[in-house]
Order: sequence, then C-alpha cells, then structure tokens
Amino acid sequence: MVRYSKLAFRQTVHHYGTDLCWTPMILAKEFNRSSVARESDLSISTREEEESARVPTVAQFGASAALELARASSLAAPYVSGVDLNCGCPQSWACAESLGAALMERRELVRDMVVETRSRLARDGWDVGLADADVESARGRSVTVKIRVHKDLRRTMDFIDTVLGDDGACGWRRNIDWLTIHPRTRKTPSSTPIDLEALEILTEKYGKRVPILVSGDVFTLRALPYTSHLLDEDNHTPTFTTSTDSTPAATAPSSSTPQHPKLHLPNLADVPLEAVDVFLANLARAPLVLKSGVHHLTEMLGPGYGPDKRALIGKRDRMRLTKCGNWIDVLDCLEELRAKAAVATAAEKLVNNTR
Ligand SMILES: Cc1cc2nc3c(=O)[nH]c(=O)nc-3n(C[C@H](O)[C@H](O)[C@H](O)COP(=O)(O)O)c2cc1C
Repeated sequence: MVRYSKLAFRQTVHHYGTDLCWTPMILAKEFNRSSVARESDLSISTREEEESARVPTVAQFGASAALELARASSLAAPYVSGVDLNCGCPQSWACAESLGAALMERRELVRDMVVETRSRLARDGWDVGLADADVESARGRSVTVKIRVHKDLRRTMDFIDTVLGDDGACGWRRNIDWLTIHPRTRKTPSSTPIDLEALEILTEKYGKRVPILVSGDVFTLRALPYTSHLLDEDNHTPTFTTSTDSTPAATAPSSSTPQHPKLHLPNLADVPLEAVDVFLANLARAPLVLKSGVHHLTEMLGPGYGPDKRALIGKRDRMRLTKCGNWIDVLDCLEELRAKAAVATAAEKLVNNTR
C-alpha cells in the first residue's frame, strides 16, 4: 500500500505468517529513470541468510506503457519474486496519468503490458512459464495484475478475457500467473462492502483458468463473508454468504455444494502489542522517515478494522506519539504507554478475580 508496506512492515507481517507481500505501488517511469527512486521505492534486505529477513515479495508497479513496465520489471526481478501491475488505484492523480484504475478502460494496453513484460523477463533468463518447474524454480518470476470491477460486469469479463489471452498463443498457458480482484468499482468508497455477487460470478467463470486472489474487507478470517477451500482441504469450491446472513447462503453455487461450517480459529487475533516490538526491531535495520514510521505505529496501535474495534492504546496517547520529534522520544513515549497498559491489564485482572 502506498505509504505503507515498506520493508520493515513487510518483515513484521512475514514474522506473523504472511506468505507473500507486495511493495507499495511504484511508478515504473520514475523507477526506470532514477537510481534514487529505485533505492527509496524498493528496499530489500541484505541479510538474505536470515530466514526472518527473507520475505517473498511482489513489486507492484503503476505503468501505462508496455516498455516502461517491462524495463522496470527487468530492473526489479533480481530482488523480488514477481511483478504486479496495479489497475486498481482510484486516486485522481493516478487516473489522470492513465495509471491505476484508468487502465480498466484500456484492456488491450494491459494485455500488451503483461505480454511484453513476460517476454522481457524470459529474455533476461527468468523462468516465467507456468509449468510446475518454472513456478518452483529459484529463477521463477510471476507476472500478475490487480483489478477493480466495472459497474457493468460484462466489461470486467471482456477485460479479463483480453488480459488472460488465448491459451498457448504466446508460448505460455495464459498471460498472467494470477489475478487479484478488488470487487469494488473505481467510484465505490471502501466504506461500502465489497460486491460479493460480482466476486462470485467472476470466480465461478475464471477460477478454474487462473488463480484469483481477493482484496477488500479482509479483516479476520472468521468475519469473511465467504469461505475458502484453502481452509478446507476436502473442498475446492469457494462459497459465499450474504451480508445479512451468516450461514452459507442462497448465492452458493448449487444445493449439492457442501455447506461449510463457520470456521473457528482460536488463535487469530488483532495486532498484539509484541508486534510493535517486532516492527521496531525491523525498523532499526530498515529505517523509515520519522513521520511514516510513526504513522505505521499509530495504525498498529489504533482500533481494529474487524469486528473488534478496541485500540491497543487510546486516541490521546496515539496523538502524543505523533508529536514526537525524533525516534528517541518515540521509544520513550512507547515505553511509558506500555507501562500504563500493563498497569491497566493488571487492574482489569484484579477486578475480574474479585468478582
Ligand atoms: C492508503 C492506501 C494505500 C493503498 N495503496 C495501494 C497500493 O499501493 N497498491 C494496491 O494494490 N492497493 C493499494 N490500496 C488498496 C488496498 O490494497 C485494498 O485493495 C483496498 O484498501 C481494499 O481493502 P479494504 O476493503 O480493506 O479497504 C491502498 C489502500 C489505501 C487505503
């Protein structure tokens, strides 16, 4: 995410079990032309021998020309597991440059961009085929696309058909390794729930041709409005629930589809306070400018985005953090807040025990 998901944060979520991370969207044009942009936009760990530092990462680009995306991908490929084209960013500055969600109106261009990128990576000696040997190879690199949906879903289908390409026409089975769908239109605010019907139609139509990742309204696994076969090895069909009904619903593919019990994941939690320590330790090695680092901290310590809206520390204390002028003050402030939180927890325990 732009302004987030920098190296220290990617290493932190990797520590807590995230398999694959994305960089924030990087502007391909600047990345190609400036070594300063390359250094600031794509930090990688030089502690490759340490498991905790090795985070499988996809470099996500904003681009509107095939040559730009192919060149940027070629430059990034030695340091990442794959490259992704962002066709989802709705911000007006991006759309004005024909980047992000504006590309949802340019399906042929998007196809040309991924085809050119795949060819360039293949010429550079990366394994970009989709056979198991390519996928498992140390030189395997993925080429993917993230999309939003159109109000008229037929246009999204035209888009996906064009971008996937004809099986085998370019020497590989499809033009992209996987597709990430953010089931909102360019105009839908993120406060509006994702469009489950669109998601169901698209996964049903394309799910067997290309792996699909979902972005949007993912807070905790228990609160997902759909189930996933990834959490249930015997079943390979995702099913959906409506927002008003928590049981697998009328939108499920057919009555013969096995019904999923609601999952119980006892160890799933919002951000624990220890995650802040993990982040700070990563930050010491992969620094961020003060403002950005503190912003990460206030988000991590703030209210949960899922059903549990409790914050680890209150708003007034989070504001105190934002007033700190240097990292020493930030660490001192955190120490103080931690002590305060420990006292509050001890007091709560005491009250519960005496009840
Ligand atoms: C501040 C901010 C920055 C984002 N930056 C990116 C980005 O660089 N690349 C991207 O693919 N999505 C980006 N997104 C979109 C999110 O990845 C995600 O698709 C979207 O927020 C939907 O999830 P939600 O329903 O939890 O909000 C960004 C979102 C926000 C709020």
